[in-house]
Amino acid sequence: MRNLKNILITGGAGFIGSHVVRRFVNNYPGSKIVNLDKLTYAGNLENLTDIENKPNYTFVKGDIVDGAFIDQLFEKHKFDGVIHLAAESHVDRSISNPTEFAMTNVIGTINLLNAAKKHWAGNYENCLFYHVSTDEVYGSLGEEGLFTEYTPYDPRSPYSASKASSDHFVMAYFHTYGLPVVMSNCSNNYGPNHFPEKLIPLAIHNIKEMKPVPVYGKGENVRDWLYVEDHATAIDLAFHNGVLGEKYNVGGNNEWKNIELIHLLCDIMDKKLNRPMGTSASLITFVKDRAGHDLRYAIDSSKIQAELGWKPSLVFERGLAKTVDWYLSNEKWLNDVTSGEYQKYYKGQYEER
Ligand code: NAD
Ligand code: TYD
Repeated sequence: MRNLKNILITGGAGFIGSHVVRRFVNNYPGSKIVNLDKLTYAGNLENLTDIENKPNYTFVKGDIVDGAFIDQLFEKHKFDGVIHLAAESHVDRSISNPTEFAMTNVIGTINLLNAAKKHWAGNYENCLFYHVSTDEVYGSLGEEGLFTEYTPYDPRSPYSASKASSDHFVMAYFHTYGLPVVMSNCSNNYGPNHFPEKLIPLAIHNIKEMKPVPVYGKGENVRDWLYVEDHATAIDLAFHNGVLGEKYNVGGNNEWKNIELIHLLCDIMDKKLNRPMGTSASLITFVKDRAGHDLRYAIDSSKIQAELGWKPSLVFERGLAKTVDWYLSNEKWLNDVTSGEYQKYYKGQYEER
């Protein structure tokens, strides 16, 4: 097991990043954790109030696109580990603004790789660059089959194209310079702190407010959902025990058609909110499909299960009920993130098209 002491986590104020930061700060008190985040619309320090005063935790506000700043940060903190999550992460936003995705997801990743290569020179055996990626790089499946680590990349959206590019750079630095890297590609996450632009938290928010629940196209698209803490566990395992130069697919073995998922969520919400059954489902509204909408994602996670002993811990119904409970008892969080810029985004995405 690797024993790294000065760990940089990028994007730690975001959805998945905040769960990873919390896990590392609490489980590795002997390691210093620096959370670097630009605090875009998706970054929120309210996600981390429970650990913000821990002695092994430091927050730094900054942009991974600024190469000189990243270089100075490595110089100052002498990182021996990086867990790279910072990214623009929403497919719909990538359709409106692909350049921002190329900047953060590609150039930002290259800046981090360059800093690691420079500052770790001569000490590669005691360092690790861990890259967090997505199953969307593999493209879209038909009715059958699963993505394995050998599935050829075939990204279809500007988001997945930028993540695919970053993955290729990470592997290129391994093969060309010998940089110690490990990478994982995970399916759709859900759980607390998920920004309500993505399907599940957006639907929870709208059902709570009795607003239309937008389902793209006919709702036939399939995603493989994993509870966010199970992803954080997978990252922890692969960061400490993953084989250099290897990638690990992580997924929930939990495929749902969007429309079936939304019906399940509606039933849970009716019960939790003591509304007559069918109230939430009456809000379902089919809207114009996403451009280039990938039909189906599904992950074969047998490699990380067999080699690192990882497995998902929660059945979906339980994870979804836990998630709904979190949103209903964290009204302030939800109100804060759905004010201001969110209103403009929501109008442009759902009301003015
Ligand atoms: P998120 O959008 O919730 O969080 C991204 C974080 O990165 C935010 O805190 C944001 O402020 C920060 N950030 C953005 N641009 C930055 C920049 N230029 N410099 C520094 N910080 C910046 O995303 P997420 O859903 O938590 O995803 C985290 C990572 O996991 C991403 O790399 C994403 O591709 C990957 N991933 C996500 C999922 C998913 O279902 N959400 C699944 C698989 C992989
Ligand atoms: P999303 O949460 O954006 O994740 P991704 O596109 O990365 O898989 O979307 C999940 C699925 O839900 C996807 O098939 C698109 C669909 N969707 C809707 O039907 N309505 C919505 O309002 C959103 C945001 C997504």
